[in-house]
Amino acid sequence: MQKLSSLRLPWPVDWADLFGRERPLILEIGFGYGAFLLHLARQNPEANIVGVEIAGQCLNHVERGIERQQLGNVRAIQSTAETALHYLFTPGSLEEVHVNFPDPWFKKRHSHRRLMQRDTLDAIVNRMRPGGRFYLATDIVEYAQMSAELLAETPGLVNLLDGPWQYEMPGRVVTKYEGRAQREGRPCHYFAYRRSDAPAPILPEYEEQPMSHVVFSSPLTLDEMLERFEPSEHKFGETVISTLYGYRGSKVLLIEIYVKEPTIDQHVALLVGPRQAAGEYTLQLSTLGYPRVTPGLQKAVTLVGDWLVGLHPDARVLKRSAAGE
Ligand SMILES: C[S@@+](CC[C@H](N)C(=O)[O-])C[C@H]1O[C@@H](n2cnc3c(N)ncnc32)[C@H](O)[C@@H]1O
Repeated sequence: MQKLSSLRLPWPVDWADLFGRERPLILEIGFGYGAFLLHLARQNPEANIVGVEIAGQCLNHVERGIERQQLGNVRAIQSTAETALHYLFTPGSLEEVHVNFPDPWFKKRHSHRRLMQRDTLDAIVNRMRPGGRFYLATDIVEYAQMSAELLAETPGLVNLLDGPWQYEMPGRVVTKYEGRAQREGRPCHYFAYRRSDAPAPILPEYEEQPMSHVVFSSPLTLDEMLERFEPSEHKFGETVISTLYGYRGSKVLLIEIYVKEPTIDQHVALLVGPRQAAGEYTLQLSTLGYPRVTPGLQKAVTLVGDWLVGLHPDARVLKRSAAGE
């Protein structure tokens, strides 16, 4: 069975449709081998449980567990937390959010990868309903301190504990990383917050755009375009577009690209194909890799279109789709 993935699901997801019933939604981010996710599902038969995780082997493991235990109220989705929060959920739709033992990313130059950071926490708060709960656990004392500061500065969250964290949280099942921390004698830090009525930080709304394309004329053949291809990297604010490889098919030229935006990474292909009129071509997104038309992907089409036209002084853009302008 194909894995559920944030790149293939509708944005936002109609969860009642996906689960076949309308129920409160509980989210676990980075569920790893899934002991906690399956526990959530067993403990909350009346809720719809969603787990997001990036590691494919964790997803396989958890899917087998869901099947073995015949749990109908839980779905595992391959996604980064950032993409899931931004594209899959609507504001105020989450009843509970759990983050268990997030990767610490100790080095300063990796700190932007930490889950507990301003933008991601704001997205969590935006997606929670007032009265909803946020739970975090970590065995890394520096991560606990950093999170405590961040959470205390978050207007939409109210601490449910007497201190910033406590060292025990009854009723939990022990996750893999929690078990390891306990065996190695590292204390675990547990946080519990309630979503208040304070207004949530606003997240940009995504509206699916039509596929971008560029029609151009060029005296060059597809082989000549491919000969001139060189990998490249371009930065536009927080978006990074990399052109990786060029490939020749029997009728088309494929250009593999990687587009990194703050809330989504996409590894897809652009396709250059001849039109009926001699010397005319269309550049468009291939359906390989399930592209979602984000501003970054639109920018990539414009960028590669400009590169193709820039290869020859007599080449011209004949038409750009509105989205590719
Ligand atoms: C240290 S492990 C903890 C796993 C599990 N929660 C536990 O307590 O045993 C962190 C997990 O988060 C996942 N992860 C890391 N960054 C993520 C992200 N941005 N979005 C979703 N999952 C992520 C990793 O693949 C890994 O499985």
